[in-house]
Amino acid sequence: MILHVVGARPQFIKLAPVLNAFRAQGLVSQVLHTGQHYDFEMSELLFRNLNLPEPEYNLGIGSGSHAQQTGRMLGAIEEVLNRAAPALLLVYGDTNSTLAGALAASKLGIPVGHVEAGLRSFDRRMPEEINRIVADHLATYHFCPTVKAVELLKAEGIEGLLTGDVMVDALQTFSQFASTCPCPAPFVLATIHRAENTDDPGRFHAIWEAFKAIAREIPVYFPIHPRTRSRYRAIIEEASHPVTVAPPAGYLDMLALIKGAEAVITDSGGVQKEAFLLRTPCLTVRGTTEWPETVEAGWNRLVEADSQAIYSACRDTRTQARPASSPQPFGDGAAAERIARFIKDVLP
Ligand code: UD1
Repeated sequence: MILHVVGARPQFIKLAPVLNAFRAQGLVSQVLHTGQHYDFEMSELLFRNLNLPEPEYNLGIGSGSHAQQTGRMLGAIEEVLNRAAPALLLVYGDTNSTLAGALAASKLGIPVGHVEAGLRSFDRRMPEEINRIVADHLATYHFCPTVKAVELLKAEGIEGLLTGDVMVDALQTFSQFASTCPCPAPFVLATIHRAENTDDPGRFHAIWEAFKAIAREIPVYFPIHPRTRSRYRAIIEEASHPVTVAPPAGYLDMLALIKGAEAVITDSGGVQKEAFLLRTPCLTVRGTTEWPETVEAGWNRLVEADSQAIYSACRDTRTQARPASSPQPFGDGAAAERIARFIKDVLP
């Protein structure tokens, strides 16, 4: 049996195509949900959108500081591993659930596969960067979304398997079910939740000022992560601002929103890539990105957390011609099948 450890919103999206491919290959899987994300819109709605089965294990860990959250997960995952004795544990991406799963399994001598291995932002102030480095160095098998990821791992002495990106698989499977867009065109889609932008009020206020300035010219639709809402409730819920603040969007609504937007402003890794795949220009409010291919192709631009810089970049993006190039650095939509076949071959 293979145990999939997930816990946060982007991991449910990555899990869906992998579970389908495992079923097709006759591989027996179980799902462990750490409960890192627990609000209806952050978890259950995604499970429904993606036709995911009820997880066999739900640890209900919830929020906390990094150490508290990861520590609670470690103990609870270890208990499940001792009982369920999986032949392999699969972790996804770069969240605290990824770190806890990889660490608990490797201490028990259970092989670990890392889906989305080899990404680096080279910024260790990001919790996600620490999580991915540790997960990669503990994992037995590394499933890399891009050629760059294979090269980055090689530089750290690790051999990765180029599979392509499972998010392409998910997008290809589910875009046919994408909802009617929740916001009428034209509009700009905005998402901000990363610790680097929400823990620092100066950065968040600058971003919010930019959203307000842009919203005076074109509607700004802002499906808001609970982290951002709880921290900045007072300004976000103030009645007079022009930004359309909405609950977190499900996966199918999100695909429709990204596709329908004139431009996307985000700090999410997944949204940057989905914007690229759906050919919507993106501004990423960060100093670095794990997805440099999107920047090199001209569809994504890094912008400082400065209100004038974001406002001007957004205006430029909306008025300039879209890039002519449409490379496909993230694979062909068969990443999950490659992972499943590889695992079928290596497992006893
Ligand atoms: C996590 C991942 C991040 C990923 C993001 C996707 C880590 C370190 N970060 O960030 O890489 O991009 O998920 O969404 O694992 N909260 C709720 N309800 C929920 C979930 C969270 O209210 O369902 C609030 C809580 O106040 C919590 C805060 O959001 O303290 C942060 O949640 P957490 O899971 O720690 O990290 P994210 O910011 O969601």
